[in-house]
Amino acid sequence: MYTPDYTIKPTPVILGIESSCDETAAAVIRGREFLSSEIISSAAEQSKYGGVVPEIASRAHTQAVDEVVRLALKNAGVKKEQLSAVAVTYGAGLLGALLVGLSYAKGLAYSLNVPLIGVNHIRGHLSASYLTDKNLEPPFITLLASGGHTAILHTQSYSKFKVLASTCDDAAGEAFDKVARVLGLPYPGGVNVEKLALESRNNLNFPSALVKNSAEVRFSYSGLKTYVINYLHTASQRGEEVSPADVAYSFQRSAVDPLVKKTVEFALSLGAKTVTAGGGVTANGYLRQSLLSACNEAGLKCVLPEKKYCTDNAAMIAAEGLIQYNAGNFAELSLNARAQIPL
Ligand SMILES: Nc1ncnc2c1ncn2[C@@H]1O[C@H](COP(=O)(O)OP(=O)(O)OP(=O)(O)O)[C@@H](O)[C@H]1O
Ligand SMILES: [Mg+2]
Repeated sequence: MYTPDYTIKPTPVILGIESSCDETAAAVIRGREFLSSEIISSAAEQSKYGGVVPEIASRAHTQAVDEVVRLALKNAGVKKEQLSAVAVTYGAGLLGALLVGLSYAKGLAYSLNVPLIGVNHIRGHLSASYLTDKNLEPPFITLLASGGHTAILHTQSYSKFKVLASTCDDAAGEAFDKVARVLGLPYPGGVNVEKLALESRNNLNFPSALVKNSAEVRFSYSGLKTYVINYLHTASQRGEEVSPADVAYSFQRSAVDPLVKKTVEFALSLGAKTVTAGGGVTANGYLRQSLLSACNEAGLKCVLPEKKYCTDNAAMIAAEGLIQYNAGNFAELSLNARAQIPL
């Protein structure tokens, strides 16, 4: 019989499990105190194919999930019997991949007779900041930029969000990955574009990712990506030499500058005092430096999760699990994985 105790403890010990893409991750927190975070990634195997192959990801999760959970518990100095709840990503992501983590979490919650918490991966990215700054409380403005999402959000309370601006096509991370590919850089692309961009300070002034002449603030990464592809193609047809570092640097400026500018403008116009960030692209050094200085200049507090908590990880899933735990939002064992879920 599965009859977990749903009483809310003041300082619960929560295990987070994440398997939505190519990272199998587990982490343990006690209240907002971070205890451990482990990742086993199949990125090296995926890089042979230039991107994530869902079947390979699912198989890799199956092989890694038990080991990564054991490691997270061991490094946290926590026995599984001490867990207050198990939080797991149930979407959005690759269905086969999600199902591995979700099934494992269900089995563990059942065997320990503790509550199961279903976590929305994107809310996880937003919650990484709660572990970075243990006193962080809503309201705040968040710049979310990942492989599948690009948005500026107003977190009004722990459960109420307003999307202030978003992309009308590709996500920023997707554009970084595609530009990496046309520049011949290996997968995962974003971090390699950043490395190459460090070799240049020559801005070719590519068009901004901010959509012009729009009543609302909107971003377009498909337009910017196509511009870069055409730029390289035209140069090659004309036999002109191109500096890949200049291209990486200029693309990065056009992709990142409008995100930083608009995030700070929204914070100021809405009277928010704090800006946070989440998602893989916010691990980008140029973005982090720009956002920090823009917030400093504007007198805003800036909470930036460490780089390893910007890209996919399970600490952010445990952190969001804690919010759901405190709200008493527990899942049934029939919880299904979902490829898409709204915020
Ligand atoms: N240093 C970096 N600079 C730019 N982009 C980066 C950097 N590091 C990671 N990225 C990009 O971040 C993305 C991965 O982020 P993340 O793991 O949050 O995305 P995801 O989980 O695939 O998507 P989502 O969270 O939207 O479902 C990739 O597109 C990657 O290229
Ligand atoms: Mg992610």
